[in-house]
Amino acid sequence: MTATLDRRDRAPRTGPPAVEVAGVSKVFGSGTDAVVALDGVDLTVAPGEFVCLLGASGCGKSTLLNLVAGLDQPTSGTVAAGTARPAVMFQEAALLPWLTAGRNVELPLRLAGVGRQRRKERAQELLGLVRLEGQADKRPHELSGGMRQRVALARALAAATGTAGSGATEVQPGVLLMDEPFGALDAITRDFLQAELLRVWEATGTTILFVTHDVRESVRLAERVVLLSSRPGRVVREWGTGEDTDAEELHDHITSELREVISAHGR
Ligand SMILES: Nc1ncnc2c1ncn2[C@@H]1O[C@H](COP(=O)(O)OP(=O)(O)OP(=O)(O)O)[C@@H](O)[C@H]1O
Ligand SMILES: [Mg+2]
Repeated sequence: MTATLDRRDRAPRTGPPAVEVAGVSKVFGSGTDAVVALDGVDLTVAPGEFVCLLGASGCGKSTLLNLVAGLDQPTSGTVAAGTARPAVMFQEAALLPWLTAGRNVELPLRLAGVGRQRRKERAQELLGLVRLEGQADKRPHELSGGMRQRVALARALAAATGTAGSGATEVQPGVLLMDEPFGALDAITRDFLQAELLRVWEATGTTILFVTHDVRESVRLAERVVLLSSRPGRVVREWGTGEDTDAEELHDHITSELREVISAHGR
């Protein structure tokens, strides 16, 4: 049996890119200790597009994501990310320990000036989406690692989509940057959250740049998979995952290219 990818037909994307990375290099340290993490990276993400950034450990994926998030500056080249500040979800949940799960999810809405009642409703809605209904009053230390990660996903969705979905229309879909967000979860929870993320993406039109080293995850989620070489990171290839794509074939193909990139690094 061949598994083809189930993709909706999408309207062509117009307007300025949501993310534009041009000729970006990043060097950490200096002199003999200098580490060239990225070298001449170009990447454009259209508004509403879902792109996975794939590459071996240490190739510069998180470095690139941090540059797009505005958390660090490139050594050379330019990075532009839409109009609003992108929402970021890291590998560790990074919740505020003194706030309840609900308050953690509400935080980006509070910072955006959303009123108390509406942000509380939206937090409940997002916690429901990640299967944490009834957990809003728990503090992070009372939750498991996977549950904390799901709260972080709900918070990132609040930051990226505002109150869209709760009837309000004033919030524009933003950019969501995700750095191996499901890496630490069990297979069933990961599978569930991947499906939820796709659903939310389709419903909100959020632009997603998602870092992973899991080929299967990238093929399942992304419309476009971008492969970075091992250090220094450069874009070596990219693949579209159109409707007629055979998912297994694409998976095998990308896996062999990733192997090639990793073994080239060792030579
Ligand atoms: N703040 C820093 N100072 C010095 N070196 C750094 C810093 N951040 C990253 N590096 C180096 O840059 C390179 C790329 O790191 P990065 O974290 O971007 O890799 P990655 O692709 O995200 O890896 P992984 O899949 O393991 O998370 C590594 O060699 C790392 O040691
Ligand atoms: Mg990383």
